[in-house]
Amino acid sequence: MNTIQDRHSGTARPRKRPAAFPALAAGLAATLLTGCQQSEQFLSIGDMSSDYNKEIFWMSLWAIALSIIVFVGVSWALFYSVQKFREDRHEAPPAQFHGNNRLEVILVAVPVVIVILLSVLTVRSMARLNPVPVNAPKIDVLSKQFWWNFAYPTVTSDAGGTVANANEMVMPTNQPVVLNLTSGDVIHGFWAPNIGGQRHALPSVIRTWKVDTERPGVYQGNCSQLCGASHANMRYKVIALEPERYAAFLAAAKAYRAPTPAEGSAEARGYTLFMQGKASTGALACSACHRVQGTPAAGAAGPDLSFFGTRRTLGAGMWEGEVAERNLVPWIANSPGMKPGALMPTYDGSEYLVNGKVQKGGVLTRAEIEDIAAYLRSLKLPEEADYWRGTPVYGVRAGGTQ
Ligand code: CUA
Repeated sequence: MNTIQDRHSGTARPRKRPAAFPALAAGLAATLLTGCQQSEQFLSIGDMSSDYNKEIFWMSLWAIALSIIVFVGVSWALFYSVQKFREDRHEAPPAQFHGNNRLEVILVAVPVVIVILLSVLTVRSMARLNPVPVNAPKIDVLSKQFWWNFAYPTVTSDAGGTVANANEMVMPTNQPVVLNLTSGDVIHGFWAPNIGGQRHALPSVIRTWKVDTERPGVYQGNCSQLCGASHANMRYKVIALEPERYAAFLAAAKAYRAPTPAEGSAEARGYTLFMQGKASTGALACSACHRVQGTPAAGAAGPDLSFFGTRRTLGAGMWEGEVAERNLVPWIANSPGMKPGALMPTYDGSEYLVNGKVQKGGVLTRAEIEDIAAYLRSLKLPEEADYWRGTPVYGVRAGGTQ
């Protein structure tokens, strides 16, 4: 946000312009800037920290310039004809004729040239944006109702399996990053405009997508394709780190094994409930659906929880910071009640829907749920790999929930 302001401040040269233009520009700038400052999310397709966005911006300028030429040309032809052929300037009726080859050729040729020019611009940008560099860092993006899984296919964990994180995508700056997008159910849309563009995630298909940014920071991502009851609650964060910090994150994530809780601690009780559930009350084991790196929990139906304690968002970006912290226990107790369409079972005995069928959740006591929460909070990457530490957050007001 600041960089955009900095870039534009103090660069205006005194020039004679129609009075309406500065007023319009000031109004637009005020709207955009207040939009940034007051909005909870800084989503900008014009974020020039991304090569992707720069390419689209310059292509748009050419397209807009072409449109202005067309507009001026058509307006001129219109006003010229109206003036020249006004009835009060001609006594006799105008010449009547049928067919004019030259005129018809011009009327066909000009639009064809316009369409060709626009196509060349589009194809040129596509040729620059679509190729995927062979050695670029890769992230496998799996979208599901209503959350995201980000796996690092080239990084095999020392404890087995591929390193992955849910709902918070960590990527390096200053290089293109290749995303392999797919969906586990319906069509979703990967949209984090600050790092470039938007692409659908389709079931049974893997599509590649190249994103980049040169500015380290936390950016907002949203699902951009209406996908069900919690489409609006299907968010994520993109955390762009400088290459050295990114490498430190990957190295620590690769070596990570979930900590073994001390005997008799709340975390230890939480661990047992997480792994086994509670058969006597029908409470299902969390490990059936969630993976925790370095433990027997290898479920794939729900988000990967290996680094849950490092994450600052909850419910796929529904809450952040302190609010996320406060909501963790009620969330475990009844997530479908807090997020329509969530498929996680309830643990307070509430009913919930799966594929239109009413299910009844098992029951854990508040203390038991707090034990599970304590265990989840203990799943932390080491300090040097905490990707939130010191990373500027774009889109949250100063003193906000971060
Ligand atoms: Cu997923 Cu909208």
